[in-house]
Amino acid sequence: MALFVVTIDGPAASGKSTVARRLASRIGATFLDTGAMYRAVTFAAMQDGVDLKDESQLIGVIGRHTFGFEPGDDAMRVFVDGQLVTDRIRSPELTANVRCVASSPPMRARLVQMQRQFGRRWGRVVTEGRDQGTVVFPDAGVKFYLVADSRERARRRQLELESQGVEADLDELHRAIESRDRSDESRAVGPLKPAPDAICVDTTRMTIEEVVECLLRHINRRQNANRVL
Ligand code: DC
Repeated sequence: MALFVVTIDGPAASGKSTVARRLASRIGATFLDTGAMYRAVTFAAMQDGVDLKDESQLIGVIGRHTFGFEPGDDAMRVFVDGQLVTDRIRSPELTANVRCVASSPPMRARLVQMQRQFGRRWGRVVTEGRDQGTVVFPDAGVKFYLVADSRERARRRQLELESQGVEADLDELHRAIESRDRSDESRAVGPLKPAPDAICVDTTRMTIEEVVECLLRHINRRQNANRVL
């Protein structure tokens, strides 16, 4: 099967996951949540009790465990050693630790391999992350880069937590998001940045459905243009 990939990159809480999931279902593609892959490896490292700041200890983690990523109705289903951990990889403690895995070049290299493997397996994929259009799928059919004001992203995260019955302080969430932006943008390998050929969409004043419709229009336009060429 010919590979058809749509990439959606952007900062934390810019709405990428929800948009990518809905877009995938609209175009009959499989949704790949690459942040969940980084989280799964962080989960295994925390279970092993390794020092997350020690790269030589981190490297052993991938070899010691099996990781499974399967399409699910809602979120992508994540397995570590056959155990379903889709919800457990979202804890605040794990979220604070994931940057250790994300900033390690050899760990990123292995995760990039896993992401390309997922792409080859499913063929038609909407993938979201930080480096999908720049590093992992540089030949993707259509690339998007979503941005949103950091205060608005903190507000969205707060609403999401509230819907799960968790109360969180807006200023604290805002600080955590800005700190994650700095860490994502400044790492040497796979930093958060738009691919030169990415379509940038500012979602600050858009609903999820408006973003999905906007991306669909771009995909259709691109496909019609390719047909004419
Ligand atoms: O999108 P998320 O919050 O689930 O991502 C979790 C972490 O993984 C985040 O700190 C950034 C990192 N990440 C990354 O470095 N590269 C990706 N392609 C996806 C996520």
